Amino acid sequence: MMRPFILCGGAGTRLWPVSTPERPKQFHALSGARAMIAETAARLPERLGAIELAPAAAVAGARWRAALQAHLPDGPLVLEPAARNSGPAVAAAALCAARDDLVLILPADHHIADVAAFHDALARGVDAAADGALVTFGIRPGHAATGYGYIELDSADAASAPFTPARRFVEKPPRETAEAYLAGGRHVWNAGIFLFRAGAMIEALERHAPQMIEAVRAALPAAGPMAAGEMRMLAREAFARAPSLSIDYAVMEKAERVNVVPVSMGWSDLGDLRALKALHGADGRSVLIGPAAEDAGSGNFILSTGPRVAVRGLSAIAVAASPDGVLVTTLDDAAEVRKAVEGASRSA
Ligand code: GDD
Ligand code: MG
Repeated sequence: MMRPFILCGGAGTRLWPVSTPERPKQFHALSGARAMIAETAARLPERLGAIELAPAAAVAGARWRAALQAHLPDGPLVLEPAARNSGPAVAAAALCAARDDLVLILPADHHIADVAAFHDALARGVDAAADGALVTFGIRPGHAATGYGYIELDSADAASAPFTPARRFVEKPPRETAEAYLAGGRHVWNAGIFLFRAGAMIEALERHAPQMIEAVRAALPAAGPMAAGEMRMLAREAFARAPSLSIDYAVMEKAERVNVVPVSMGWSDLGDLRALKALHGADGRSVLIGPAAEDAGSGNFILSTGPRVAVRGLSAIAVAASPDGVLVTTLDDAAEVRKAVEGASRSA
């Protein structure tokens, strides 16, 4: 049995003010007709060869319970009283499966254009996880991104193997390191999708993040596989003892046995306005999303869920507007707006 768990905890700060803490980007239809979290569940296969997939579950903030039930009607839910980053969420997923189950971790807010390639990669992932390795999915880097994890492969040729051992996992390297990785051709991006036997992740957590797994174990009202529609609420006090750390830092950088499935599937972490523009159109022309946008500039990106926006005499900028506020940035700086946005949304 394979149990998919969608992680849903990020605030989507870089897409403010369209993405807000009350309604973060995964509940918006940014890449298709449905909300991103519903798209994530819908692109899963029903089975992979002999392996059946359970309905997609979620580990998510309790505040979004109603939205989660609407988008994942059959999905079991593990609800968090407060965000503790992805490490504790992955720990909860591993504990809410049978030890021999395969657990598939999916971010709620990624776009995958080639679904057949994604399914093929999952099938290779099953083989890669068979001997107890933790499996990640590797994307050929398109630029020297500093917001992704990088996985070093044995050689550039290894990127065409069905799966290959990871030499080293480096989360969010500084710019110069990312540039060297890009030039070297031996690194792939971590897509943030993980596959493993539940027992293998539990052992890795016990070894590298014992306090985290203990806190999550104590906070769960029950362990083991969940029934359709079941809800498990993590206990506030016990869960607060889990260190707030991503699974990448807590486990992936340290684990001894990590396999990578290289895949080319039109993957995009729609993390910022530049990534969103790239999904919707080529560099040279402007892209407008939302009924109320108007444009006279060139190569701009305008996303509005309310106000009419007009741009003139500017190029390569991005504007996001909603009834909550307006963000204006150059496309080049779109990945770095976190600080500006935190200031703006705080004083709102
Ligand atoms: N349930 C829950 N609770 N989920 C969380 C929490 C939390 O407190 N914090 C983050 N998540 C979820 C996010 O919603 C997202 O689906 C996933 O965990 C990854 O978190 P991000 O905050 O988006 O991580 P990132 O983008 O900085 O980095 C990760 O993804 C990159 C690819 O997009 C890393 O895995 C990188 O290595 C990877 O390259
Ligand atoms: Mg992300």
